[in-house]
Amino acid sequence: VGQRLVDAFLREYYYLRLSITDVCNFRCNYCLPNGYQAQPERQSFLTVDEIRRVGQAFAAMGTRKIRLTGGEPTLRKDFVEIVENLTALEGIEQLALTTNGYRMAKDVERWKQAGITSINVSVDSLDPRMFQQITGENKFADVMQGIERAFEVGYRKVKVNAVLMKDLNATEFHQFLAWVKNRPIQMRFIELMQTGEMDSFFQQHHLSGQRLAEQLVREGWQLQQKSLTDGPAKVFKHPDYLGEIGLIMPYEKNFCASCNRLRVSAKGKLHLCLFGEEGIELRDLLQSDDSQMLLQSRLYSALQGKREHHYLHQGDSGIRANLATIGG
Ligand code: GTP
Ligand code: 5AD
Ligand code: SF4
Repeated sequence: VGQRLVDAFLREYYYLRLSITDVCNFRCNYCLPNGYQAQPERQSFLTVDEIRRVGQAFAAMGTRKIRLTGGEPTLRKDFVEIVENLTALEGIEQLALTTNGYRMAKDVERWKQAGITSINVSVDSLDPRMFQQITGENKFADVMQGIERAFEVGYRKVKVNAVLMKDLNATEFHQFLAWVKNRPIQMRFIELMQTGEMDSFFQQHHLSGQRLAEQLVREGWQLQQKSLTDGPAKVFKHPDYLGEIGLIMPYEKNFCASCNRLRVSAKGKLHLCLFGEEGIELRDLLQSDDSQMLLQSRLYSALQGKREHHYLHQGDSGIRANLATIGG
């Protein structure tokens, strides 16, 4: 009862990444280049009640932050209802959203009212044509408007994700920096991660984040401290910039030492890591509020099997087909 989520390496889990759908309306070339393909088995995504029970169990075990991911989470018709249910949970202090931003200009005010406390949005290029080349959608202007709108409705900071890729958007590095000079944006450069469907793409476009880190330091950016519920980004600040820079470098040594997050997929499996395992079924224990205690003990015992780090450097084959089915 109320057991905390501590693993065998004494890491504690404050942060749940909860995917609520695999469906996406973008076709990012590093993720779903052919768009979302419906699965033949037709098992449905978690219902609002099932999602609430997941959140409740994690909250009771010390989770303070839930991030909604997908696919594109805002495609769900009951998205606002999901948010309202999770906001109501005792112990959840932050309810974050990762989105491709296509509905943001229209809906961000409702998201705010429903309880979303912070937003991460992908903008892989500041050039509309390159944006379309990467995401498959001509939605650059809509996403930009969405970011403006987010500030208008009261978000004080927005995080923006760009996967920096050789021969595509990597030359925009300094344009991104200039863009956040006077904007309260944390601009995050994500190192391309290898996925099963994207093997040759990875070889062709992967760019090491370490070089960017060195460049930032040379240009006067300073590395910041982290707090308990922060994600994996290394955050840098500069006295001349309102915005911040974040670097997400999953191939870096010790990346996993500070792991503080677990994942639940849109069909109700617990994933201990983004990479490397099948997932542990939770759904049978999400059917009634009476199963909460069983659910909590399953979470705790599953967590004891969490490995110290991912094994991608050693050529581990635990690579995912793509990140859309687990929310990144
Ligand atoms: P916050 O710090 O909460 O804003 O979260 P975040 O940066 O983790 O969230 P976001 O959904 O914006 O993810 C940004 C990138 O980080 C995505 O490419 C994720 O796949 C990646 N990421 C997040 N957590 C992990 C992790 O545990 N392992 C790896 N390898 N990548 C991660
Ligand atoms: N490598 C790195 N980042 C990825 N994302 C999706 N697939 C990959 C990948 N293969 C990112 C998206 C989004 C975040 C949720 O995950 O760009 O910003
Ligand atoms: Fe959709 Fe996100 Fe994948 Fe792009 S990265 S296709 S927006 S799930």
